[in-house]
Amino acid sequence: MRVFVLNGPNLGRLGTRQPEVYGGTTYADLAEHLVETGRGMGLEVEVRQSDSEAEMIGWLHEAADADAPVVLNAGAWTHYSYALADAAALVPRYVEVHISNVHAREEFRHHSVLSAKADGIIVGCGVGGYDLALAHLAATAR
Ligand code: DQA
Repeated sequence: MRVFVLNGPNLGRLGTRQPEVYGGTTYADLAEHLVETGRGMGLEVEVRQSDSEAEMIGWLHEAADADAPVVLNAGAWTHYSYALADAAALVPRYVEVHISNVHAREEFRHHSVLSAKADGIIVGCGVGGYDLALAHLAATAR
């Protein structure tokens, strides 16, 4: 099964961006790790990151056309982008991931416009949350 792991704005800076919040794993290392981990679960994982909302919406359309589930860390878009929420609603299913515990942070991070239609939500488990999301998708493949 093909799975898209889509990352929103500023996540390409992982490793140097607020390591006390997001950890020290670089985006490149995370992407490589997820492809490997996915392979071990029988998944064909594609990891992408964009700071452009239009590009991210295009990728969600691509996942919808490919009938591929998505692991989605939409970064700050999570909290306000109805356009992204509408695009995410088109994919067969998605798991929303946040590296940090958004509920323990600023008020504006407590609400997600993506959660209502998510298959599952993984918050505050560090970059390991992506592995958990892949494991969930592999275990419940349909
Ligand atoms: C994040 C949390 C968001 O609030 C923030 O804007 C991010 C990353 C996380 O993974 O913890 O960019 O989605």
